[in-house]
Order: sequence, then C-alpha cells, then structure tokens
Amino acid sequence: MKRFRLLSILLALAMCLALVACGGDTTGADSGYGSTGQGSGSAANEPPTDGTSGEAGGEPVTPAGRALVVYFSASGNTKKIAGYIAEITGGTMFELVPVNPYTADDLNWRDSGSRVVAEHNNPDRHVELTTTQVENWEAYETVFIGYPIWWQEAAWAVDDFVKNNDFTGKTVIPFCTSSSFGIGNSGELLAQMAGTGDWQEGKRFSSSASKSKVEEWIILP
Ligand SMILES: Cc1cc2nc3c(=O)[nH]c(=O)nc-3n(C[C@H](O)[C@H](O)[C@H](O)COP(=O)(O)O)c2cc1C
Repeated sequence: MKRFRLLSILLALAMCLALVACGGDTTGADSGYGSTGQGSGSAANEPPTDGTSGEAGGEPVTPAGRALVVYFSASGNTKKIAGYIAEITGGTMFELVPVNPYTADDLNWRDSGSRVVAEHNNPDRHVELTTTQVENWEAYETVFIGYPIWWQEAAWAVDDFVKNNDFTGKTVIPFCTSSSFGIGNSGELLAQMAGTGDWQEGKRFSSSASKSKVEEWIILP
C-alpha cells in the first residue's frame, strides 16, 4: 500500500514537471536564439519558433498631437507595421537606414561568421545611420519607434537614433516585430539609452501581423 502511494506521488510529480516544461509564458518564449549557429528555421530572417504568435501584452495607446513613426526594418516586417501605424494615426514615417545596409547573408544568425553574429558578440557594436535628424522634430508630440527583435533585444540599428535625439516633452511608444519573443525589456533599455522622454510600455507584433492588430492597439483621441 505504502509503495503504491509513493508511486502515485512520484507519478504526480513527473506530470507537474512535464507541464511546466511544455507551458510557460509563450510571449517570452523563444527557441532558436540562445546561441548562434544553431536551429532549424527555413529562412535567414525567420528562425525557428515555438509555434506561438505572442500577441499578448501591450495596453492600447492613444497618441497625442502629431505622430512620428520611426522604424528600422531589415526585411520589411517592421516597415509594414510602421506603415499601418502611420495610416491609422496620420503620422509621418521616418526610416532608419544603415550606411551599410544588411544583406540576407549579413542577417544569417545561423552562420557564426555573419555580420549580425559578429555585432551581437561585440559589446562596442555601432551601426552608423545615414541620418538621425528628423525635420521639424519639435512638431511631434508622440514618437513611435519600431524595430525587429534580435536575440531578444531591440535590433541595435536603432541605438544611434535614440542616443542622438532629445525626447524631452515627447511620448515615446516602442513597437517591435519578432518570430515569437515578446517586447521584453527592449523599450526600457532604449529609454535608458535616451535618458529623456516619457517612454511607454509598447507592443510586440508577430512578423506577419495584420492591420487589424494595429487598429486594436491604437485608440485615436
Ligand atoms: C539576427 C536575427 C535575430 C533574431 N532574433 C529573434 C529573437 O530573439 N526572437 C524572435 O522571436 N525573433 C527573432 N528574429 C526574427 C525577427 O525578429 C523577425 O523576423 C522580425 O519580424 C524581422 O523584422 P524586419 O523584417 O523588420 O527586419 C531574429 C531575426 C534575425 C535576423
């Protein structure tokens, strides 16, 4: 009898462990970026995911005044979301363009010799942009800033823009696209880098999110 009870307890424990391993916060889960040069995705910019499209999180936002939609996009997904935001808010788009743009080979995170892997491993990385100066910067009260998630952080091509501008008096709303990872603390890290501005929580969209997902997020005044 005692042995039977012990066996039942062990069985229950094993089931709990299995559930924890399969469950968890899927918006933060990721399966391919812990290290470089691994994984089994089919395209350089669409690495393996855990099959979830973590749309969760990201309280709706209401932009005030004129909106500027700043974005960096290496393969077009973030650009598409930036376009939806600009359409919905009537805002102005501003693309962050690296002087040395990323090629498909540069973006191959599975190749340990690729540009992104070298940059990821270099704490002093720096991506020079063609410009970080926005015409009529003072006119914008709300600044959306968009980027792809790279290894669970904001693609570092946005860093120079954030460091070189004064966000005082502006509401800053980060947004990102990713295969599976949530926005995490990417916005907070950018806010620290900027040192000015009223930075909001922001929102993550899946790489292929539709306009209606963006419409759900933005509540016009
Ligand atoms: C170098 C690299 C690293 C990536 N790291 C992640 C990651 O950590 N988590 C994730 O969910 N997606 C990751 N992705 C997928 C991109 O975030 C996703 O494809 C994004 O929509 C690309 O946006 P873009 O087309 O605007 O460049 C990565 C993609 C690349 C190229």
